[in-house]
Amino acid sequence: MSLRLGDEAPDFTAETTQGTINFHEWLGDSWGVLFSHPKDYTPVCTTELGMAAQLKPEFDKRNVKVIGLSVDPLDSHFGWEKDIEETQGTAVNFPMIADSDRKVSDLYDMIHPNASDTFTVRSVFVIGPDKKVKLTMTYPASTGRNFVELLRVIDSLQLTANYSVATPVNWKDGDDCIIVPAVSNEDAKAKFPAGWNEIKPYLRVTPQPNKV
Ligand code: BEZ
Repeated sequence: MSLRLGDEAPDFTAETTQGTINFHEWLGDSWGVLFSHPKDYTPVCTTELGMAAQLKPEFDKRNVKVIGLSVDPLDSHFGWEKDIEETQGTAVNFPMIADSDRKVSDLYDMIHPNASDTFTVRSVFVIGPDKKVKLTMTYPASTGRNFVELLRVIDSLQLTANYSVATPVNWKDGDDCIIVPAVSNEDAKAKFPAGWNEIKPYLRVTPQPNKV
């Protein structure tokens, strides 16, 4: 069965371009992004890996560790990484799992046989420091993912975890947030010293807490 939000992210040990990794141990107290690629030496994947590498400082700022995966072997990953550096202008600066035996792909249900029974789809899992799955995304092989959107979702998840706010439609960093319904007005007084605008009792808007 596929993984659902709130499930524990399955642990595994895998060979990667940065050595053998035990996933939970490697994550430590960090957030994590695990994402799969259909195949090495393919054009869309090449651009995605370049972008993920360019955004490493943004992931670091958010205490997020990034790890990629494809079912190709390590020597193929190493060769492809040279092309990525050459064409995308950034060396791949995070580990890439060589999942030739599909162990991790199967654990995370990354192979969708009706799309392809050989390649993984473009899966993304965001994992919290509690090792629980916080976000899943599945894109087809032909559509590159938006890594800036991924950062936006991570910002939202971290605001919820740290400040008990949710983020409204099309929210971007710095916009007002919504006080989650589980926080009473009484508790909100202490949590949100900048106050809030009560549009409806269930719709309370407050400035982004880590910006005031
Ligand atoms: C790509 O990464 O470019 C790609 C991979 C598999 C199918 C189509 C595109």
